[in-house]
Amino acid sequence: MDIKKIFVVGAGQMGNGIAQVSAQAGYDTILYDINMDLVNKGMAVIDKNLSRNVEKGKMAEDDKAAILGRIKPSVSLEDASDSDLVIEAIIENFEIKKKVFEQLDKITPPEAILASNTSSLPITQLAATTSRPEKFIGMHFMNPVPVMKLVEIIRGLATTDEVYNIIEDVSKKMGKVPVWCNDVPGFVSNRVLQVMINEALWELYEGVAPAENIDNIMKLGMNHPMGPCALADLIGLDTILSILNVMYEGYGDPKYRPSPLLRQYVQAGWLGRKTGKGIYDYSK
Ligand code: CAA
Repeated sequence: MDIKKIFVVGAGQMGNGIAQVSAQAGYDTILYDINMDLVNKGMAVIDKNLSRNVEKGKMAEDDKAAILGRIKPSVSLEDASDSDLVIEAIIENFEIKKKVFEQLDKITPPEAILASNTSSLPITQLAATTSRPEKFIGMHFMNPVPVMKLVEIIRGLATTDEVYNIIEDVSKKMGKVPVWCNDVPGFVSNRVLQVMINEALWELYEGVAPAENIDNIMKLGMNHPMGPCALADLIGLDTILSILNVMYEGYGDPKYRPSPLLRQYVQAGWLGRKTGKGIYDYSK
């Protein structure tokens, strides 16, 4: 099957990045969200990213225009009716994703592949909300999407080899390195990463050290590009809490219990960079 048209559901920080790399790879891309304001915000981020590449001399102005020209904004799921591949990147809530996939299952052609960028929800369970679990797969991009090389591909219980091979090929065309794993809570990436971030939040909660010191120790001592507190703010504290909850429930193991400080930040609406405040303050 030849993938030509990709429908991206969700124009937020992951969705707009996915639409950008999709259009850069030459795919006709549709960027959908529930209202035009959200779609326009996503398009503005893509425009800004591409403009930065033009300013740095890494991209021609014409190429930028061509990439933007390949992205069609949408506020109707019906626009997915002739798509070959859907990549969903909406809120990490099973019931909401289920509703969206149930609709997409009816709207898209029967041969279309349905992919989710979920950070932790079970791919097999999401696949079961559709009539085509064999054509369902996890395509887990990393933030910031245009920069990070990895796409973690998660194979659900029913995902066929043929579908896996197509998605591997699409990921490569997007300039990414696909690496597969099976469907377990947190997959490979977040099962490792979120335990580290959560431990940093326990340290902060216990007053072991301020966030700057925790980050500097991990950056300078472990050569991480950013410390766990700064990374938590980049990912979003609400996303981290939901991933930890999925693993806590999925494995029944207390090593995944979220730090009380993480819960409190989320209750306060301090979700990280996207709200201007998280562990650090971004208001200035
Ligand atoms: N969007 C697009 N491009 C961006 C960007 C963004 N949000 N942020 C930075 N960049 C680009 C810059 O323009 C720059 O590009 P050039 O090399 O072409 O000049 C490049 O990235 C490097 O940026 P900077 O020099 O400003 O800063 P940096 O060297 O510190 O890199 C970083 C920034 C890439 C974010 C780096 O700090 C990093 O790799 N951090 C770790 C990120 C990470 O771990 N992500 C995974 C999170 S987990 C996840 O996403 C999955 C999940 O399920 C939770």
